[in-house]
Amino acid sequence: MVDRVAGDRTTATEDVLGYCGLVDSGRGTDPELAFELLRRFWGQGYATEAGRAVLDWARSSGYRRVWATVWEWNSASRRVLDKLGFTEVERSEDATYGTNLVTMRQL
Ligand SMILES: CC(C)(COP(=O)(O)OP(=O)(O)OC[C@H]1O[C@@H](n2cnc3c(N)ncnc32)[C@H](O)[C@@H]1OP(=O)(O)O)[C@@H](O)C(=O)NCCC(=O)NCCS
Repeated sequence: MVDRVAGDRTTATEDVLGYCGLVDSGRGTDPELAFELLRRFWGQGYATEAGRAVLDWARSSGYRRVWATVWEWNSASRRVLDKLGFTEVERSEDATYGTNLVTMRQL
């Protein structure tokens, strides 16, 4: 998440863009993918790139399933999860925030 392409060169910086990693899903040993980027870095493919790297790490570490939850109205996050191969398996209604989608990716 620190590589920048400048012309035909890729340079590494120490800029913090946000986070992407695995958290407790509350579903046994299966982890949950979580990500959030600083607004100025949105729309450049970084969440998808980071998500792919985390899923690769999860697979190589022996995990077989990763979960992710997302609000139905969060179109950007839903698109990232779609690009990463997550599919919806459950949904629930919250009176305040709307519909919460539970998605899952087999590794
Ligand atoms: C969700 C978030 C991480 C996305 O980061 P990002 O680096 O911009 O994501 P990417 O660039 O990899 O992909 C975003 C995709 O969503 C699409 N998108 C963005 N806004 C959209 C919108 N309002 N409606 C539909 N699609 C949208 C982009 O076009 C892109 O899809 P594409 O590659 O097919 O064009 C970032 O917006 C964020 O930090 N949001 C706040 C925190 C958050 O919602 N976290 C997730 C909680 S589940």
